[in-house]
Amino acid sequence: MDDAVCSNDDPNADNTGPGLSRRQVLAGAGGTGLLAAVAPSVLRAPAARAAGQAGGGTPEQVHLTWGSDPATSVVVSWATPGEAVAPRVLLDGAGPGAGRRVIPAQAGGYTDGLNGETVWTYHAEIRGLRPDTSYSYAVTAANDTAATPLWASVRTAPVGRVPFRFTSFGDLATPNTSWVLSYGQSAYAVQAVESFQPLFHLLNGDLCYADLNPTVQPEVWRDFGNNNQASAANRPWMPCPGNHEIEFDNGPQGFTSYLTRYLLPDNGVPGFRGYWYSFRVGSAVFVSVEADDVVYQDAGPLVSGPAALAPAASTGHPAIPAGTSFYIRGYSQGAQTAWLRRTLAAARADRTVDWIIVQMHQDSCSSSATGNGSDLGIREEWLPLFDEYQVDLVLCGHDHDYERSFPVRGYDSMAGHEVSTGAPVQTRRPHPVTTAPADRFDTSQGTVHLILGGGGTSAPLDDYGVDTSDGLRQAKVFTKPNRPIAGSAAGTFTRAAADAVEDATWSAMRDPATGYGIGVFDLDPGEPGGETSITVTYYHAAGADPTNPNTGVAGTPNPDYTKFEAFTLFRPRPGRPGRGRHPGRPTALVR
Ligand SMILES: [Fe+2]
Repeated sequence: MDDAVCSNDDPNADNTGPGLSRRQVLAGAGGTGLLAAVAPSVLRAPAARAAGQAGGGTPEQVHLTWGSDPATSVVVSWATPGEAVAPRVLLDGAGPGAGRRVIPAQAGGYTDGLNGETVWTYHAEIRGLRPDTSYSYAVTAANDTAATPLWASVRTAPVGRVPFRFTSFGDLATPNTSWVLSYGQSAYAVQAVESFQPLFHLLNGDLCYADLNPTVQPEVWRDFGNNNQASAANRPWMPCPGNHEIEFDNGPQGFTSYLTRYLLPDNGVPGFRGYWYSFRVGSAVFVSVEADDVVYQDAGPLVSGPAALAPAASTGHPAIPAGTSFYIRGYSQGAQTAWLRRTLAAARADRTVDWIIVQMHQDSCSSSATGNGSDLGIREEWLPLFDEYQVDLVLCGHDHDYERSFPVRGYDSMAGHEVSTGAPVQTRRPHPVTTAPADRFDTSQGTVHLILGGGGTSAPLDDYGVDTSDGLRQAKVFTKPNRPIAGSAAGTFTRAAADAVEDATWSAMRDPATGYGIGVFDLDPGEPGGETSITVTYYHAAGADPTNPNTGVAGTPNPDYTKFEAFTLFRPRPGRPGRGRHPGRPTALVR
């Protein structure tokens, strides 16, 4: 091999996917044969893009996130091909005579640490909005060359115990199949969000896999942003980082591209804004955490060799030797877990909060056979907190499939076995509080975990583990780091799959028909002294797997999302009957 690519060579890992050949990796990474044309020992990234190129300040990649209070604030974010002059948001007020506000944007940006390109980004947090109200807005600049500014609309969150809908998936990629792991389904996935008209969408990490296209990372992000715009300009898309948001030479944990593109609610932890955060909508607190901080698995970028990866000369960054992976476990030194405990404790102590919903990328309850599986790091660090504070629901991605757990609480000790020796190993297997077939689950008794990793990547992982000795469901579990090891070819490196397995007694439902789908969540606040509920409906895009790992049947992207299953989560609601439907406007939101 005479090239270097930034990938995980493990065919079982999600960042190359099963069956992804070296030729495909190169085609995706270069797109136009760029990599094949370089010197055999070192890769060179393309020259930096010139500032002020055609397009100037014309907005693109427009997307919304919630502001500090979703009932009254939203953040409008975008990028431009060149540097914008006087970037701003125009906001049309709600109601007659409300007039138009002009909100100047904060200009930001960064220079990609691998190819040296400059990226211009902008954020405008709009505050003082009315709850549960729709607003029209436009983004523009003095050097916006579009015939008319881009107009869209957004609706603020309601307050109190009120019904609302949100949606979720992870692992989206882009529709541009020139890029590694991109696939046409990602455009249909964005359409699917719009078809369900949620108040907001949760994007569970591994946004676009730019790290697997190391010489063209900004171009991949651009395709991702422009694909999302069809929905994310109309309703907040709230992300969390995944392992593929980690990029060489882009910040201490590699998140510069991600952090620059999103302005997320402040977590108050110095140095870590945007890594993790929480927000509240109605009677639900949403907690977004950054699991690269706690997982054992090493799934960030890897220079698989034999050549080094050489950043563009303009960056001044040295070549990255073959065998280098960007492994960041433990980077917050406990700060994130301490924040998580504080956040969960405050939420559960608030009698106006019913639901606690956690979003993260990696999985503590996944039995994908071709994917990564589960990770003991999450089970050790965070599942005890989920138990203590009765987290209702955990939404993940990472494995490109659909899996639902039974409600779990506590763990079964020493239920795992080492893959290599068969010896017993501690996996802290989550303990299901029930395994009875049902479509209603009391989440005050246990936490339900969902894998929603079927946004749109080209590598579905809907092939699930089975213990051949007893026919039971089986999950792989990382219980220690799988750092790079020598590959089969001279000078190459790879990473091993998970080191342990366990019978997945917590697994309640898996979808072997397709890896692609979307979760739709409808919250019903219920009545005092009764129950509050969330009805979950998972829709899938049958036949969309490029090759179904179970049947071998070839498929194509499918815009038709059909119902796979529906179930209801419920929990008792405090209070006495007859006190009315909306008694609980939270003190913090009174103004
Ligand atoms: Fe991932």
